[in-house]
Amino acid sequence: MKKLNGINKKNIAVFISGRGSNLKSLIKYSKLKKSRFNVKLVITNKKEAKGLGYAKKNKITNFAVNYKNKNIAEKKILFFLRKNKINIICLAGFMKILSGKFIKKFKGKILNTHPSLLPKYKGLNTHQRVINDKEKYSGFTIHLVNEKLDSGKKIFQKKIRILKKDNVKTLEKKILKLENKYYPIALSRFLINL
Ligand code: GAR
Repeated sequence: MKKLNGINKKNIAVFISGRGSNLKSLIKYSKLKKSRFNVKLVITNKKEAKGLGYAKKNKITNFAVNYKNKNIAEKKILFFLRKNKINIICLAGFMKILSGKFIKKFKGKILNTHPSLLPKYKGLNTHQRVINDKEKYSGFTIHLVNEKLDSGKKIFQKKIRILKKDNVKTLEKKILKLENKYYPIALSRFLINL
């Protein structure tokens, strides 16, 4: 843990599977003086994940883990987490479900961002389902990860009104922009109380 202004900065690992815009914003925020965290490690299940570029550019240790065998993959990930003294895991578009065994080892220390107003629209294709159901509102939720999909304790939620002209693409874009803005802030607030 690095010390800054007398604050112990927590080491976080970010897990991604693709684009990595949330990873990018977490890295950017971590460089601010007021940040309570340090992005120490990036893990992906996809070696071609675009987001890995942000880790490389910022010289952050990163690993692409082969997920053919989940048990072996998680053992490797745990090894990297311990080696890098990781305190908190942030899932950011990580499209694999962590096992109960893994989650227990980091109980209360794994955060996820999900693009819906949980407990509504757990799982995949959230924006499409929201549009199909003609919902008036959507948003995103940052929550703790437990053994049940998208069901852990809520840490932060932001709601937006869906406009008549919105479609899956525009809704995704608006919500992603908010996730990018608020994930680091929600994480910082969470760390204060840890
Ligand atoms: C984000 O919208 C995140 O909420 C979603 O994937 C996107 C990742 O974007 N996660 C899930 O749907 C998980 N169930 P990013 O790769 O640009 O950060």
